[in-house]
Amino acid sequence: MKSIYSILAICLVVLTCMTFSSCERNTLADSTNFEDIQHYSQPNSSKSTNISNTKTFISLSCEYNRDLTEYGYTYYNKAKNNIDVYAFTDEKGKVNYRSACAVKTVKDGNTVDVIEGICSVKTSDNGNVIPVQVVDDAKSEKLGKPNISVPQKNQIPQGYYQVKNIDCCFYYVDKNGEEVYRTYAAYPDKSSAFYPSDSKGNIPLGALKADIEYDLENVAITPAPTATPKPTPAPSPTPAPSPTPTPFFIGDAPFVNVLEVTCETLININHRLSNDYVPAGLVKVTDYIDSSLVTLSNKNALANSEAIQAFSEMMAAAKEAGVTGYFLKNTYRSYKEQEGLWNYRVSQNKRYGRVLYEPLGSAYPGSSEHQTGYAFDITCVSAPFANNNFKNTQNFRWLANNSYMYGFILRYNHDKTRLTGIKFEPYHYRYVGVDLATYLFENKLCLEEYYNSPLIWK
Ligand code: DAL
Ligand code: ZN
Repeated sequence: MKSIYSILAICLVVLTCMTFSSCERNTLADSTNFEDIQHYSQPNSSKSTNISNTKTFISLSCEYNRDLTEYGYTYYNKAKNNIDVYAFTDEKGKVNYRSACAVKTVKDGNTVDVIEGICSVKTSDNGNVIPVQVVDDAKSEKLGKPNISVPQKNQIPQGYYQVKNIDCCFYYVDKNGEEVYRTYAAYPDKSSAFYPSDSKGNIPLGALKADIEYDLENVAITPAPTATPKPTPAPSPTPAPSPTPTPFFIGDAPFVNVLEVTCETLININHRLSNDYVPAGLVKVTDYIDSSLVTLSNKNALANSEAIQAFSEMMAAAKEAGVTGYFLKNTYRSYKEQEGLWNYRVSQNKRYGRVLYEPLGSAYPGSSEHQTGYAFDITCVSAPFANNNFKNTQNFRWLANNSYMYGFILRYNHDKTRLTGIKFEPYHYRYVGVDLATYLFENKLCLEEYYNSPLIWK
């Protein structure tokens, strides 16, 4: 952790050299179609430094997507695997492409540090999008240097502890027992916020605001501040050994294999789809959507035909009501894509899916409604990401109150997480048809309650 900046510096030098040597062939043309760009985040295939058993590399992944318009970039396009690409034109008129990324440090095969930032991207000969180097160009133009400051007591999230003798620098202990550092700072034209930093309060170039909600979820259940010495416990009798309980794993929950799917079918960890299940009746979303009404994140997206028609009517009704700017983020996802998301979550948190009653953000493969074609992740251009920011928008309020009239339900509500096994997702809507949606909305029920099938966790 402490040596990240020296490693990062070496990494950037190496990457910069590699870029210059190959930039002739690989520079992005303005006509680059990012739809053709592949995901690029595997440590093994990444350019990386390898110092003894520690590797630092830049990783691109949809998980790091952030709204870079805040940093002065313009939204450009969506690359494959949901990576958002932004652009800005420099003083010479050249268009430069940027994505949110993370600088990861892996030691002995374990990720020990992840610092989110902004990187320049280019395409390789085979069409992959490649993170080139961490940058802070738009930030330095528009935002200047961060001003370290001391937060008020009530601004410090629970679970954050102050680093000894550094007023602005805090850390929390994550679920893997690692200390994660955050430093409170302000950029000249922005309000103060916590930013990822090292243990001395240095914020890396291009760092994005820390996602406090993520931190709060990621904080160890019993954080152990290192600053206070632990009292010596009084000697107590050795307890009798108890049998080792089987560790919990959500994938081991009992389930039935669902073979037939209609818009009313319950899909969850106890009602799963097989790995080769592909629904009939998938259609291209672009054939049904008026692009002046809704922005699409992926022009190749597929969805159930009845559901997309209902969605299209719903968008027209929202416009009638004066609510515009919706963003359709995710629709149909194959089993394999869901498996990719799951594996990513596990790579970030080895206890993912292993804590009893802890609601998940990505469903276990086979238990995602996205595999049916009936699930839609809907956000809006002012809060485009699939996270809780969307709940504070007018677009969310309109959907939450009106979507049932078009056959959609807010599937994972905040008061049902024990029943659904999924965290509150203000953006995830499930098409169940108008009759069932109306019944569920009027009676404030989730599908598990309707089918009298509360989640069986183990
Ligand atoms: N995010 C929802 C639960 C899914 O992965 O299907
Ligand atoms: Zn979803």
